[in-house]
Amino acid sequence: MAVSNEAAVGHAKKIPFGGYHSNTIPPHDPLITETDSGTPLGEYMRRFWHPVCMSMELTDTPRFVELMGEELVACRDKSGNVGVWHAHCCHRGASLEYGMIQDKGIMCSYHGWKFDLDGRCYEVPAALGEEKDGEAFAASVWQGAYKAFEKHGLVFVYMGPPEEEPPFPDWEGGLVAPGDEIVAFSNFQHCNWLQVQDNPADQYHHIPLHTTAVVPGHEQTTTFAEAGATPFKVRPDLQFFNIQEGRGIAWTSSRRISDDKIFIRVNSQVLPNLSFHSYLFETGEKRKIFSRVHMLRWTTPVTNTTSKMIGWRIVGPTIDPRGLGLKLKHLIGYETIDFLNGQVAMRRPERIKYLEEDPNGLPPIPGDHRTRKDYKDAQYAPGDYEVQITQRPIAVHALENPMKCDGGVYMFRKLLRDAVNGDNPKTSAAAWREWFQENNARNTFCQGNILEIPGAPTQAEEVEKRRAIAKDVIAATRESDNLSGDERVKFIEQKYAEIEKKYS
Ligand code: FES
Ligand SMILES: [Fe+2]
Repeated sequence: MAVSNEAAVGHAKKIPFGGYHSNTIPPHDPLITETDSGTPLGEYMRRFWHPVCMSMELTDTPRFVELMGEELVACRDKSGNVGVWHAHCCHRGASLEYGMIQDKGIMCSYHGWKFDLDGRCYEVPAALGEEKDGEAFAASVWQGAYKAFEKHGLVFVYMGPPEEEPPFPDWEGGLVAPGDEIVAFSNFQHCNWLQVQDNPADQYHHIPLHTTAVVPGHEQTTTFAEAGATPFKVRPDLQFFNIQEGRGIAWTSSRRISDDKIFIRVNSQVLPNLSFHSYLFETGEKRKIFSRVHMLRWTTPVTNTTSKMIGWRIVGPTIDPRGLGLKLKHLIGYETIDFLNGQVAMRRPERIKYLEEDPNGLPPIPGDHRTRKDYKDAQYAPGDYEVQITQRPIAVHALENPMKCDGGVYMFRKLLRDAVNGDNPKTSAAAWREWFQENNARNTFCQGNILEIPGAPTQAEEVEKRRAIAKDVIAATRESDNLSGDERVKFIEQKYAEIEKKYS
């Protein structure tokens, strides 16, 4: 199809068989999708820490990776420190992915130049008797390098100006209860980062996409079907809230799950590309107050048309009393995730074959989704991967027909636009840096709650009631935002007990 620059084209005329009138596609919105160097969003995003790959990707050979359109090479040197450099050697451009890992940094295999972690060239081989020239020359050249470190199985990199480096955020001082553990994952997506970031705030897709197969009999392995997390089969009532002065959004999904219990799930997203997800395997059987984060995920732009969902799943008895995360832990990792099939380009049976061969292997990521081996299986029961990547390589917002339930998606895009345009002083990169310098253990709004509140007599009253409860939950969470740790938990417990009383 031809691409037109006229913003007005593209929307279908409201006439039968009128596809002809919408057969040109308006452009995507570059301001909030494109992240190459020099773009407004690219400049903004470079002022945050991002995970670039998993620790397991750093083996005995350097790893080629991309982030925000930059070609990079990462390795763990023989002293155990992680280096991330521009891929092309500053001598004559060979890729350092074919380089040799050193005690200190990396050596380019073409002419043997050696680079330290910070990009300093510390050795240029010179002819016998000309060593002094080599030393002088080495001191005059630098390979582009970025600061990097490892945390809980992920490699983080900072790609902005060194003098603007922010502290690494340590949300809530760790997010993991004693006895629970963090498991890293990285799931590649063949599409722009923003449509992947859009997805969590769009909770209405759970039922059509995740609870039914397109062709009956081909139901996929899901949280809902296998884990028996039945509350997720109930269509949620969604409300969206701007939080922490425009730094993010939280949304409540409220579901009446029995005559005397209501499930209020709160997830959140934080600028520019982070999301927090509360417990995924909820049964709703027992009262529960303020269960914490079950997954923390960055959506990192690889190029403008590829991205990664990369982050941490939290498993263990506190967050997951049913023990499902521990049981399915072998499915959390490189190009695989435990809670749902259809999150990555390879369907689960195929991925399991690779895992059985080598749990630490790095299998090739299938490319074109229509020619991959398991295309038909994906059509039978698609997942988030299939719907996200087929919103076009970069989704065209001008063609969307949003409804009320898309409110969170639009709210987050607005925050992003305001941040990139400099329209919200609280979300400039400098303001973020100061916010974390003041306190890098900021709170999240993410939480799972089963409140003991009976249903209302009529559906209309029930709708009104659950919306009011959810609003009260967010109001209490806002109030708790200047507290931390146990003090905050105690405050919330007291507030939610009051909410239960108020609505019973
Ligand atoms: S191209 Fe790397 S050392 Fe020459
Ligand atoms: Fe989903």
